[in-house]
Amino acid sequence: MDLAPSFTWLQAILFFFLALVWFLSFGEVHGATPTVNIGNFSKVEDAVNFHVYYGQTFKVIKNAVDGQSYLLLQNNSRIASRSKYCTSRIKSYVIPLSSYSVDTDYFPGLLERLKGITSDSVASPCVLKLYEGGQIELVNKSDHQKLAQFSAHFFSDTNQLPACNFATFVPFIEDTPLQRAEWIKFMGAFANAEARANEVYNAVKENYLCLAKIAKSRTSFKPTVAWMKYDNGVWSFTKEKYQLKYLEDAGGESVDASITKNTYNVSNPDDLEELHAILCTVEVVIDETLTSDPANYVLSTFLQNLNVEDRSCFSFLSNTSLWRYDKRIQSYAALDFYNEAVSQPQLVLADLIEVLFPTGNYTMTYFRNLAKGEALTNIGSQMCDRDTSTPMEPTIVACG
Ligand SMILES: *[C@@H]1O[C@H](CO)[C@@H](O)[C@H](O)[C@H]1NC(C)=O
Ligand SMILES: *[C@@H]1O[C@H](CO)[C@@H](O)[C@H](O)[C@H]1NC(C)=O
Ligand SMILES: *[C@@H]1O[C@H](CO)[C@@H](O)[C@H](O)[C@H]1NC(C)=O
Ligand SMILES: *[C@@H]1O[C@H](CO)[C@@H](O)[C@H](O)[C@H]1NC(C)=O
Ligand SMILES: *[C@@H]1O[C@H](CO)[C@@H](O)[C@H](O)[C@H]1NC(C)=O
Ligand SMILES: *[C@@H]1O[C@H](CO)[C@@H](O)[C@H](O)[C@H]1NC(C)=O
Repeated sequence: MDLAPSFTWLQAILFFFLALVWFLSFGEVHGATPTVNIGNFSKVEDAVNFHVYYGQTFKVIKNAVDGQSYLLLQNNSRIASRSKYCTSRIKSYVIPLSSYSVDTDYFPGLLERLKGITSDSVASPCVLKLYEGGQIELVNKSDHQKLAQFSAHFFSDTNQLPACNFATFVPFIEDTPLQRAEWIKFMGAFANAEARANEVYNAVKENYLCLAKIAKSRTSFKPTVAWMKYDNGVWSFTKEKYQLKYLEDAGGESVDASITKNTYNVSNPDDLEELHAILCTVEVVIDETLTSDPANYVLSTFLQNLNVEDRSCFSFLSNTSLWRYDKRIQSYAALDFYNEAVSQPQLVLADLIEVLFPTGNYTMTYFRNLAKGEALTNIGSQMCDRDTSTPMEPTIVACG
């Protein structure tokens, strides 16, 4: 099985970044007036790794990820022309940003003032279109001099030495799907788009909670789900808190962590026997194995990786409930599940509810059924079907 070893969750963050930006419009700032009054505020309700505070002519974002305070100075205030900070604890940015870039090892979303990206692997059709049209420039992420031309450069690799215009953007540090989605307010603050960020987050949250409430009120049994991945001869079950939260909110249960080991080496007969036994008890399998060739990751690939001969007790196979979340993809590294899905957790939840309690009357957004041989969809710029200067609306799922 050939893997994509260079792909990490850090890189995945940036897919998400642009997805968030889609909802806002830096170009046409909502609620920004020529006066320095801010007027609209975002209150962070769920996310725990950043906070926003408001002054008359400035805002402060406290970022727990890098321990820094970002001082956002309104471009028409006196303080913006007088002050510039760049210390280990505080950095300043003039807002609304006139241009910005993002550290995308692979890629994501879009915006009028998005001018630079660090990779062209993008899961968003409209970003691809802008990039192909030359409105977005590809910049080497180690070229700080070049990146310095942007009002801000959003990056996620906390091991990288940051320059003065760098801002750490790490929604993936949060533990729940809603907390991650709320990072739209972080972006909103840089764009003076608080009203829009609040509106999008409220709509997403309300829809998510409605779906979760219905799923939880089901009296039927809770299906057990093995959310697992294969890497270099070894299987492991997910411990990601946000994934476990998704399962819980969808009305399912993860394989109990108290009975699982960290890893199962398929070359070790004892490991294989244990893995076999556990999989005989689950109703649903989600295979998140990384691959450089998702289109050719099919049922037989999974079975080959699993290496178990006797599959007679696998109800997830007889009941065709074996899934991957790579239905929408641009390149092997740019899964829409890491991009738009993070800003639209209500869609992931709706998918998972259908995975656990199939109605047959729902079209999956991110998940495809390997057991049924479902194919994936390649994202291309020709799929961009809207005016790229208008902000995207979140997709609200029928609930109740
Ligand atoms: C807040 O933003 C909304 C939408 O952009 C705008 O209509 C409203 O006037 C703003 N409120 C204030 C107090 O600026
Ligand atoms: C401040 O930003 C707004 C919105 O982008 C822009 O229209 C205005 O010209 C800027 N003002 C200054 C003084 O740069
Ligand atoms: C980016 O710049 C670094 C240092 O100058 C260089 O080693 C690397 O090959 C460059 N990467 C690309 C993709 O051009
Ligand atoms: C798995 O087990 C085989 C056989 O014991 C061993 O050679 C291999 O290194 C193990 N793989 C890992 C990742 O531990
Ligand atoms: C198979 O799936 C159906 C829903 O499609 C569910 O009702 C049933 O309990 C499942 N059977 C097993 C053995 O998991
Ligand atoms: C299928 O979904 C549509 C739209 O949500 C709904 O109107 C219809 O009643 C559903 N059909 C069944 C059989 O559940």
